[in-house]
Parts: sequence; C-alpha cells; structure tokens
Amino acid sequence: MTIKNIVLAGTPQLRHITKPVTSEMFGTNELNNMVETMFATMKANKGVGLAASQIGLEYRVLTFGFDTNHPRYPDQEPVPFTLMINPEILSKSQDMIYLYEGCLSLPEVRGLVPRFEWIEVKAYDEKGYAFQQRYEGFTARIIQHEIDHLDGKLYPERMDNMRTLGITAALREAGVIR
Ligand code: NI
Repeated sequence: MTIKNIVLAGTPQLRHITKPVTSEMFGTNELNNMVETMFATMKANKGVGLAASQIGLEYRVLTFGFDTNHPRYPDQEPVPFTLMINPEILSKSQDMIYLYEGCLSLPEVRGLVPRFEWIEVKAYDEKGYAFQQRYEGFTARIIQHEIDHLDGKLYPERMDNMRTLGITAALREAGVIR
C-alpha cells in the first residue's frame, strides 16, 4: 500500500486540467494501483475526499468517504467510500448551501463556500462500468470540491466572502466551526 505526499497549493501542477481515463486504462493494474494509492493517501491524511491531481496524477479520478466522528468534520454523518472516474455533473439544484470547507492542499485554513445542494452525477468505476446517482448535502459538496480539483480550481475561488477565510484552529476557538 502506497501513501503519497499531498501536492500543496502553489504547485503549478495542481492548477492543470486533468485528462480523462481512457477506455484502455479500465481494469489495468495501473488504474487499480492509482485508486488504491488514492484511498490509502486520503485515509492516512484524514481527508474526506481526494482528487488524483493532489497526489500528482493528472487524471479525472476522485475518491471520497469517511466513517463516523471524522476529526476534520465531526458534525457530518459518515459517507460511504466511493470512487468516481471521469465524473460529470448532469444536473444540479438551484439552491446553494454554505458551509466552512477545507482542503488537504491548503492546510490549516477554512472558508465559507457555497455549493449546490444536490447534484446528479455520472461516473465510471475502475472496471469501466458507468453509474449515475443523485447526491445531496455534504456528499454533494465533497464531489463538487473534488471535481473542481480535476479542473485545476481550489475552493477559495468559489467563495463569495473572503472575510470568512480563517485559520482552522482560530475558527474552532471562536466557535465558528467544530
Ligand atoms: Ni481539496
């Protein structure tokens, strides 16, 4: 099991638009290893989601999921561990939800980010089987955050009030987040 270092904001590669996984790659060891490394790295870093570009692999692959009582987001209900390859948002809510969001590539800071309340996503698993599902709330937020990574975007660019950006420990101390 390989655990990779997280690529931090400021590294140019994190801003690249990643490329789709091709049909020849599905079912290969290369892809299976990438997925395994992503889940291992996400868990080791206590992330709730991870994009391939955060470990230096410029493919449209993301993972997410966590068990209960997550240290970074203790208020959130557990989310099943999920892999999405070449994800695509097919439709989305009109309403947005605001929540303090963080990112492993931007350590120790959080900001208030609006995200669509629900999204309908089409994606592929590691064997190349397509699936389509509607996600809402925190799960929908994670997916939107990770798809942004695949397009080279980071969450501060989604914020509409930069005054909410803060140091995680200070926001906790102030009772703004848990
Ligand atoms: Ni992130």
